[in-house]
Amino acid sequence: MFSGLMFYLFNINSAKHVQNNIQMTEVTMSTSKHDAFWMPFTANRQFKAEPRLMVSAEGMYYQTEDGRNVLDGTAGLWCVNAGHGRKRISEAVAKQIQQLDFAPTFQMGHPLPFELAERLVKHTPDGLNRVFFTNSGSESADTSLKIAIAYHKAKGNHGKTRLIGREKGYHGTNFGGISVGGLGNNRKSFGSLLTGVDHLKHAWKPGSEFTKGLPEDGAEMADELLDMIALHGAETIAAVIVEPIVGSGGVFMPPQGYLKRLRQITEQHDILLIFDEVITGFGRVGEAFASNRMGVTPDIMNTAKGLTNGAIPMGAVFLQDFIYDAFMQGPEEIIELFHGYTYSGHPVAAAAGLATLDIYEEENLFQKALQLESYWQESLHKLREHGVVKDIRNYGLVGAIELHSSEKFGERGYKIFNHCYWKQNALVRCTGDTIAMSPPLILEESHIDELMNALSKSLSNAL
Ligand SMILES: Cc1ncc(COP(=O)(O)O)c(C=O)c1O
Repeated sequence: MFSGLMFYLFNINSAKHVQNNIQMTEVTMSTSKHDAFWMPFTANRQFKAEPRLMVSAEGMYYQTEDGRNVLDGTAGLWCVNAGHGRKRISEAVAKQIQQLDFAPTFQMGHPLPFELAERLVKHTPDGLNRVFFTNSGSESADTSLKIAIAYHKAKGNHGKTRLIGREKGYHGTNFGGISVGGLGNNRKSFGSLLTGVDHLKHAWKPGSEFTKGLPEDGAEMADELLDMIALHGAETIAAVIVEPIVGSGGVFMPPQGYLKRLRQITEQHDILLIFDEVITGFGRVGEAFASNRMGVTPDIMNTAKGLTNGAIPMGAVFLQDFIYDAFMQGPEEIIELFHGYTYSGHPVAAAAGLATLDIYEEENLFQKALQLESYWQESLHKLREHGVVKDIRNYGLVGAIELHSSEKFGERGYKIFNHCYWKQNALVRCTGDTIAMSPPLILEESHIDELMNALSKSLSNAL
């Protein structure tokens, strides 16, 4: 009977196969094994002509399809903070799938997200004790914006719906996130976006080039928010959202005192302050979160990426107690917030999160960026000797080298990135003509030397 079934399936499959092949020939003439996947944020045709494929990873290195070890200078995409191939995480994930693959968190529950939330809030700044789980940084952005508006409504302030973002801000790719985001390319193909949104100016001043750490000048740029309050009225503004460090927009550090000033103004006008810590969270800048290190506590803090070391998709929005409490006032049988995702608090993601947190805590990885910061900084700033370098920026284990652009913006950044990957066996990231770096926090000084050496050679030879 088994062989009969196999024969039947085989025939069905081969019949489908023939049919599909005919359709493929007629419709697409597809030949390459890379055609079907439409890659995100990628020049697909350029990539597919010379694919950069990584097939395995361990510690600080990727292994490529053509058999090379490539030093990971970007923690994947700002997420593999504890380094690659962590058995503790993969074992926790495998065990969890076998024990409980899925259970809903809509009107049902399972223990792991409760446990993870309790563990996580031990690391957040004071008061950020409530956690709403999502599956990504983009979902965290939209969740935070929706909760901010719904909070004011719950308090009876129905007019407080306006959202303020910032030029160069990146808050993922959902409609809320791109509306408050300040990157033209991410917005302009997608229609009119959310209404009732305004943007602060990009908070970086010419003259701050080659600053080590946070620029001294520019805190007063936060006062632009006062102009917006004068223009729109505080009674119409729900929240201000910013990244403590601008990531995808080119890696810019906030001027000293700027975030504190934003905090003061938002507090004075009953406007919620949201920090998007999707890249700065989980040890990137020398404490668990940039908010801890910079001494500014937002009302809402968005995270994802390092939460599970990038192994399983998961995000988390941290909220002040007073926000949660505002929703918990009506009849107990009424759902307080009509928002959530099928996979909010997914058991497998939560297991990955718990195992990741074990590693961060046991290996003191949240402190690692601080210990290596000055070595990282000095090594990075030596690259200033290359004439093409326009600026170098750093904080914690974040680094950026901005290049003088050629006639074609982004061309030089791409050349350095590609040369590093193919010729120097190092992975860096390019956003336009800025090379961004954010290595796993397990790195040693020798890895910093290796990365800077690779960059130096690329800067000498690739342009
Ligand atoms: C600051 C910030 N917010 C949000 C996101 C979006 O995260 P995701 O790609 O997981 O949706 C990113 C991604 O890089 C980010 O850097």
